[in-house]
Amino acid sequence: MKVCCIGAGYVGGPTCAVMALKCPDITITLVDKSAERIAQWNSEKLPIYEPGLDEVVKKCRNVNLFFSTDITTAIKEADLIFISVNTPTKTCGSGKGRAADLKYVESAARMIAEIAQSNKIVVEKSTVPVRAAESIMHILRANQKPGIHYDILSNPEFLAEGTAINDLLNADRVLIGGEETAEGHQAVEKLSWIYEHWIPKKHILTTNTWSSELSKLAANAFLAQRISSINSLSAVCEATGADVSEVARAVGLDSRIGSKFLQASVGFGGSCFQKDILNLIYICENLNLPEVAAYWQQVIDMNDYQKRRFSQKIIESLFNTVSDKRIAILGFAFKKNTGDTRETAAITVCQTLLEEGAKLEIYDPKVEPEQIIDDLTHPSVTESPENVKKAVQIHSDPYSAVRATHALVLCTEWDEFVDLDYKRIYQSMMKPAYIFDGRKILDHERLLQIGFHVQTIGKKYQRAGLLRSWGIVPQL
Ligand code: NAI
Repeated sequence: MKVCCIGAGYVGGPTCAVMALKCPDITITLVDKSAERIAQWNSEKLPIYEPGLDEVVKKCRNVNLFFSTDITTAIKEADLIFISVNTPTKTCGSGKGRAADLKYVESAARMIAEIAQSNKIVVEKSTVPVRAAESIMHILRANQKPGIHYDILSNPEFLAEGTAINDLLNADRVLIGGEETAEGHQAVEKLSWIYEHWIPKKHILTTNTWSSELSKLAANAFLAQRISSINSLSAVCEATGADVSEVARAVGLDSRIGSKFLQASVGFGGSCFQKDILNLIYICENLNLPEVAAYWQQVIDMNDYQKRRFSQKIIESLFNTVSDKRIAILGFAFKKNTGDTRETAAITVCQTLLEEGAKLEIYDPKVEPEQIIDDLTHPSVTESPENVKKAVQIHSDPYSAVRATHALVLCTEWDEFVDLDYKRIYQSMMKPAYIFDGRKILDHERLLQIGFHVQTIGKKYQRAGLLRSWGIVPQL
């Protein structure tokens, strides 16, 4: 069998790499319109950072896994084609700011229609609105050449960045939606056969196409909703003296609820949660279900509130002004173990601090400096990119980032931040020295002992100064 995947991004790359690893009898060609991205996939430094990905790619590349810009040949030769292109939120026209922009999916479908000379199974891997398969089918059938048959399947991807390889190798479930016809069932069987190379059959779920499409949006909406729920309670904790970690633990031990995704933080980011919920909201509005739309809108509103609340807390703590103050930002990726910055909470935090006149010293172990500058100078973030460039410095070492700063703001939960030498950091910072832990990963008691003022999410700490006046904190 020959497989082609259109879109060599965060989903297409790891998915095809694992498929190639587990299916030596299948040839997989991953194509992209971006020659730069394909060149990176064929180089020593892959375009995305994902633990374990390098090893898998190196094992399979040019054996049964190929990266190419020759989209025409790959489509012509393939029996089965994954569409794994980006489906961002629309930035203009009707549905702007909410609906998914399907222009890349449409262009992939049109390429297939134009190039195909034999039967194809076309698989939606991208996250799409419910009934998008219908639009793809419409394009394919309207341009159908005689004797060519198309089947459309929905096969949404549930991997999470940062754990993509493990998620793909040990998927909780693989979901395949298809048409309820004899041909549809056959196509589902063919795709299922690929996954059965490494996923137990009982974990391969088959549904109708629309259920499959909606399940992906629903899964992301549920995950994000849990984060917004615990984040909403973090505000209550700060106002009452409760500790959100203790609350999360107590709540999560209920087996009906479970403990995952109950970690309060500065807010969720990533390319998917917000985009997919906005898409769900848009669909609900169009289906004349305003109450349902309003319900899910709250998940996003709460996330925006949390990001704003955290940024505001920094400013208030620093005597209500950060103008000309140097602030270290540790972590810029939207979560640990990825270099992806799409919708990262760090952008909102940096934007707010820059608007207030702060100077930022930023360090992230995996995000490229150009990416940080691109994100912070984007027109949606600032009207004066030149001023931003003057106010931001990117560091390749956390100790140089924190030197002579008034505050350290932790935005990403990278493991390496837990083990930094905070005594050394304290000594190199301006006093009073503040730490704002947006991920709740640091040892706050220890930081207080060192002399830091500590602020985090969902727990109020005594000020270090107050503790010291009581003789609790040793002077350094
Ligand atoms: P991405 O932006 O990293 O990659 C998409 C790639 O498609 C880009 O390299 C782009 O150049 C290419 N492309 C776009 N149109 C093309 C065309 N007509 N021909 C050839 N190449 C084309 O996007 P990512 O993150 O991989 O997401 C892809 C889809 O998977 C989206 O629908 C997303 O919602 C979904 N998804 C993403 C997850 C994630 O963690 N990033 C997880 C699960 C689903």
